[in-house]
Amino acid sequence: MTPTDDPANDVDPESVSAFRQQLVGWYTGGRVTLLVDVGHRAGLFEAAAGAGSLTSAQLAQRANASERHVREWLAGMVTAGIFTYDAGSSTYALPASHAVALTGDRASNIAYSAAGLALHAAHVPAVTRTMIEGGGIPYADYRPAFTTFMDQLMRRSYDESLLDGFIGSVPGLSELLAEGVRVADLGCGTGHTTNLLARAFPASTFVGYDISQDALDAGRDEATSWNLDNVTFMPTDVAQLAPDEPLGVIVAFDAIHDQARPADVLAAARRSLSPHGLFVAVDTGLSSNLEDNIGKPIAIALYNFSLFHCMQVSLAEGGAGLGAGWGRQLATQMLRDAGFDAVTIYETPPNDPMNAIYVGRA
Ligand SMILES: C[S@@+](CC[C@H](N)C(=O)[O-])C[C@H]1O[C@@H](n2cnc3c(N)ncnc32)[C@H](O)[C@@H]1O
Repeated sequence: MTPTDDPANDVDPESVSAFRQQLVGWYTGGRVTLLVDVGHRAGLFEAAAGAGSLTSAQLAQRANASERHVREWLAGMVTAGIFTYDAGSSTYALPASHAVALTGDRASNIAYSAAGLALHAAHVPAVTRTMIEGGGIPYADYRPAFTTFMDQLMRRSYDESLLDGFIGSVPGLSELLAEGVRVADLGCGTGHTTNLLARAFPASTFVGYDISQDALDAGRDEATSWNLDNVTFMPTDVAQLAPDEPLGVIVAFDAIHDQARPADVLAAARRSLSPHGLFVAVDTGLSSNLEDNIGKPIAIALYNFSLFHCMQVSLAEGGAGLGAGWGRQLATQMLRDAGFDAVTIYETPPNDPMNAIYVGRA
């Protein structure tokens, strides 16, 4: 860069300062995310929830942790506005509304989501390599941490919203499942959706397909512990789905956009459905046009997830690399291309701003 090319020559210093502040805010958000992640892993939020005002020593004792480290963590929590601090008594408290967002078994607890930052940060060198050289990062490089992360990220949300929210949003789907049909769950991961559906609809039979053995083992363990006899799990590449008998319903939760061969998966799903069957994919629901996604906070997260995982696992197999921003327009087109005559998009429950429900009718 020559002195005359220097962009600093042409800019208002105040606009530089404002932008730097915005950047620092994002960087700081990442740091707060790491603090939340560590606090969650160390059980500090659970130890503080409902306990009122505590000294750092009392919180450390409740969590069986080191006081010095807890005190430093609390200083970060207080300055981030997550804990309150009373200087007179040197005590800290987690407000009830913050405890609801960071503790417990409800879907409102999003403490676990913080783990995504460290998970993805481990892949910064590999993502940078692909940025220069092309290619992708194989699924195997993300396991086993990804299996647990994905399970924990979605489990509570499925517990609360799968039946009434996702399934209930599709006209006729609950009735079909209640009557008794054969159902496949494509890319089922740890199979929590498969098991919840199998438990709710005992007249139907379910099979969960995935390529990940550790995830399928977790699904089988849960099915056994719930005494379910209408669900099985099979290692299968769903691009080659070819069931012995036609399926009444095929579901896929967050499992189409990161496929290596998504068009083959959709075509196989269409071929596998019975004449009045339903294909239901809960998948990322941005617009396919970048300009429509500007200003949507969830879009930043999804493009990030995509670069650090979804696009990479597909490109690693020489795949389509659709990414999490594939969007509603492309999804609809791909479903039509796969042979679905009628394609409808339903909105997800309000607590899921990430996805849309894509329904293809045979
Ligand atoms: C983002 S995860 C979603 C898992 C689960 N459905 C959920 O909602 O938590 C995508 C899953 O698709 C699986 N998957 C990817 N490609 C696949 C393929 N070709 N055949 C079967 N499963 C596949 C992955 O192993 C992973 O478990």
